[in-house]
Amino acid sequence: MKRTIPLAFLFTAILVLMAPAALAQTPDEGVDIYNQSCARCHGADGLGVPGKYPPLTGNPDAADHDLVVDVVTNGLSGKVIMGVAYTNEMPAFGNRLTPEEIQTVSTYVVELSLSGPSTAPTTTVPVGEGTALVGENLFTGSSLLSNGGVACIACHQSGQYDRLGGPGLGINLDGIVQNYGKSGFISAITDPVVAPMIAVFADHPITEQEATDLAAYLEAATSDTTSGTSVDLLIVVGVIGFIVLIFITAVVIKGPQNAYVEKLRSTR
Ligand code: HEC
Ligand code: HEC
Repeated sequence: MKRTIPLAFLFTAILVLMAPAALAQTPDEGVDIYNQSCARCHGADGLGVPGKYPPLTGNPDAADHDLVVDVVTNGLSGKVIMGVAYTNEMPAFGNRLTPEEIQTVSTYVVELSLSGPSTAPTTTVPVGEGTALVGENLFTGSSLLSNGGVACIACHQSGQYDRLGGPGLGINLDGIVQNYGKSGFISAITDPVVAPMIAVFADHPITEQEATDLAAYLEAATSDTTSGTSVDLLIVVGVIGFIVLIFITAVVIKGPQNAYVEKLRSTR
């Protein structure tokens, strides 16, 4: 009986330890695969390169999940896309990505395709310099977003700032500008494709200038590696270590004590 209590405790503690690890997983795996395998030709924003690589954003063909899975698996050449003939080929990924990865990235491509009105490749967002300090103030809410959107810090963590909403809301934005590319990041927040971002910003759009300033801040904030999650994790590990130590100590000390009592009894 005595032993079941610490064991249950340990078990709970292990579950607690695993929870943040699960939360830390990249929520949108499709974006990761896209950025690794597709962005170099189709662009982080899916707008492609005029005359060389077709756009996926706003491309009605790319809204067809089965077609995308087929093209990614088997490759494509010689197709006229939105009135443009491409001399480059679409390489086959059937032997480079697993079937699950192809499904996941295709789902993302469908999202991407639906994310914009039929866009000509020339509408790539012009990206100015942006001011990191202005962006930092927008991130923390020290300055208000001009159209009344909620400050990013409510849901996201970045650099030295922990999200206000607790774990499990938005992703950590460290490295996101490098990951998406600057114009990819800007279109991701001015024309969001993920539901929570649409909910916040559809009626309160972020302006391009604000997005550019946020990009400048987030690009610089990335160098700060101390994140709230890893500190939380350290505390959890410490607490569990402490419990385990007490448990072990109790068992180890109990042993000899019992033996000593037995010895006293038997000599009597
Ligand atoms: C090396 C450059 C390159 C890479 C990498 C690449 N593509 Fe392509 N993709 C192309 C080209 C070129 C075409 C057009 C081929 C044609 O016109 O026949 C194309 C066509 C497509 C199409 C068909 C669009 C249509 O309208 O029919 C889809 C969908 C697509 N790519 C998705 C992807 C996805 C998803 C990835 C990543 C897994 C990817 N591509 C990676 C070059 C690339
Ligand atoms: C109400 C909560 C909330 C607010 C406020 C918010 N976000 Fe988000 N954001 C989210 C959630 C949730 C996601 C989805 C991430 C995920 O998949 O876990 C997200 C996703 C993102 C993404 C990735 C989008 C994509 O297409 O992959 C970016 C970039 C982003 N947010 C930037 C921002 C910036 C910059 C701000 C401030 C201007 C902001 N967010 C404000 C909740 C929020």
